[in-house]
Amino acid sequence: MKGKKGIIFGALNEKSIAWKVAERAVEEGATITLSNTPVAVRMGTVSALSDKLHCEVIPADATSVEDLENVFNRSVEILGGPVDFVLHSIGMSPNVRKGRTYDDLDYSNLNKTIDISAISFHKMLQVAKKLNAIAEYGSVVALSYIASQRTLFGYNDMADAKAMLESIARSFGYIYGREHNVRINCISQSPTATTAGQGIKGMDNLLDFANRMSPLGNADAAECADYCISMFSDLTKKVTMQTLYHDGGFSSMGMSLRAMGQYEKGLDEYKDENGNIIYG
Ligand SMILES: NC(=O)c1ccc[n+]([C@@H]2O[C@H](COP(=O)([O-])OP(=O)(O)OC[C@H]3O[C@@H](n4cnc5c(N)ncnc54)[C@H](O)[C@@H]3O)[C@@H](O)[C@H]2O)c1
Repeated sequence: MKGKKGIIFGALNEKSIAWKVAERAVEEGATITLSNTPVAVRMGTVSALSDKLHCEVIPADATSVEDLENVFNRSVEILGGPVDFVLHSIGMSPNVRKGRTYDDLDYSNLNKTIDISAISFHKMLQVAKKLNAIAEYGSVVALSYIASQRTLFGYNDMADAKAMLESIARSFGYIYGREHNVRINCISQSPTATTAGQGIKGMDNLLDFANRMSPLGNADAAECADYCISMFSDLTKKVTMQTLYHDGGFSSMGMSLRAMGQYEKGLDEYKDENGNIIYG
């Protein structure tokens, strides 16, 4: 990452996935700018991160094309040229926040969910391309969740937003790849204990269930940052238009013994004479 320049959207506090990515990128030798909503910048702890990493924060509502133009223009100016990587780590559902269930959605809230969590990704890419603000072989990553593909209790309209986010990565990946060799991918992350994560109904049980289902256990935010960095590096130059699962194996599982164990009295019948579990 030495010499690479990047923009990280969505670091709110120490728990944020984007926070860990920013720390890791700088640790690996990159220079960055940070962006979050004006409210998050005013109220949050983003300035603690920018002080620590010696980088600037450029406030922007990611649903505003004008704000995004400012982020890309200012970043190119501050960093001294087009950026090599961009992280979209943005998600919010007013329906989830207000406890509106999926069969009782408020449609103006749904529009906001989709605009903030998915269309903002398209806006980001379109602005960047028009300004020629991403360098050749630049890498753009957005964070997604498996509810885009499979139904999970409580994820609500964020599932629709994530499905669209992943589609945008493919559709824009084709055009940006052909014209400028810019690669665009989604990383589909394990449930993670962050501010956005905690908004999801039954999050603690979901974390436990996913952990039991995943052979490698849940991936945490720091591990997600490592994966993002590898996607920003030159070692993944031909990976594009993908949804890449970073979930300890969850997405390939149907049922695991540890999850099944929750519903069993015990695991004795699955053990050999030495007490070792027979995985079958
Ligand atoms: N936490 C999880 O379980 C989990 C799992 C898979 C994917 N993700 C995704 O990871 C990404 C980051 O979330 P997180 O878990 O780090 O939580 P987080 O709450 O720390 O980050 C969400 C960020 O979105 C920002 N945001 C909200 N509205 C915005 C707007 N209009 N403009 C710009 N920024 C805005 C918030 O200020 C915040 O910084 C999200 O896309 C989320 O859906 C999270």
